[in-house]
Amino acid sequence: MCAHLCYNNNEIIYRKSDAVKAEIMKLLRAQQGEYVSGEEISKQLKVSRTAVWKNINLLRNEGYEILSVTNKGYRLISDVKELNEVELKYALKDYKLIEEALFFDTIDSTNQKAKSIGSQLDFCQSLIVSDEQTSGKGRLGRQWESEKGTGIWMSLLLKPNFTPDLASRITLMAAAAMSDAIESETGLETSIKWPNDIVVGGKKVCGILTELNAELNHINYLVLGIGVNVNTKNFDDEIKDKATSLSLESNNKWINRLNIIKLFVEKFEIYYNQFVNENDFRPVIEYNRRKSITLNKEVEIISGNVKKIAFALDIDMNGNLIVKNSNGSNEAIYYGEVSVRGVNGYV
Ligand code: BTN
Repeated sequence: MCAHLCYNNNEIIYRKSDAVKAEIMKLLRAQQGEYVSGEEISKQLKVSRTAVWKNINLLRNEGYEILSVTNKGYRLISDVKELNEVELKYALKDYKLIEEALFFDTIDSTNQKAKSIGSQLDFCQSLIVSDEQTSGKGRLGRQWESEKGTGIWMSLLLKPNFTPDLASRITLMAAAAMSDAIESETGLETSIKWPNDIVVGGKKVCGILTELNAELNHINYLVLGIGVNVNTKNFDDEIKDKATSLSLESNNKWINRLNIIKLFVEKFEIYYNQFVNENDFRPVIEYNRRKSITLNKEVEIISGNVKKIAFALDIDMNGNLIVKNSNGSNEAIYYGEVSVRGVNGYV
């Protein structure tokens, strides 16, 4: 059964204490390194001074450095662990789409974990986030670098009630929602390289890998894997010309990963419900068209060993890329095992 849908006594107690910890962190952060008294915290959160003290100690055990000084109160010294189990669960508690949020310090691949949960009977729609992946997977069998503490490595496990031919729409929803989340949190300008990369300053900051387990007419589960280079400082020689991070693009400013996750879920849930409940996919297509770095230019379409050059004209209402071939005919390119690149390089 999904953990946050259980309302037995243990669960309520557990979630209340998580909420207190998360609210304390919110107050300490808002003070930006200044002291906040125990009395003030207890008043604002409507809990006893002893509860404040106990929860501060729990936070310290989780790795937060919090100073306490008599007659002054508590002060946040270091806040490098903004992404952790407690804060993730608390941040996502109001989004119905996510019945369970799981956090790992390290894992092989969040997509792999999502698939193993999805193969169980009666699984929950879950968001799986890890601080590090030891075997992160990219598209077309590539490896995805997922260094500890530097990025967002997450997978959303869904059980959509639409047919498998519509599954690629989820990728476009995710690209729109993540582009929007990144822009809101960082102020950076993003573009979408159809259908699954987000680009800043001509380089990739985010990749999406959607995997499906389905029968002919029925989706058993869908895994939406998203990797965002957030505070990454160095990239391997082979990728450094085409990959960057949000921090590098923001003058090395440290970027809060949890805020981006929350903004993403908020937007994705809206797009998902619009499509599933109202059959309305237009807002996603319009966003993708507006932000596309692929449209109105020559692109190279790579399918296995076959490569061809075409001109990218439009994204149709199903999310396909409409291109003009060199013989003048128009063709709809379906998102699958194809790569689309600019003729002069990555974008
Ligand atoms: C790509 O651009 O090739 C897609 C990259 C997708 C990477 C993410 S990171 C979280 C999730 N788990 C994985 O193993 N891969 C995806």
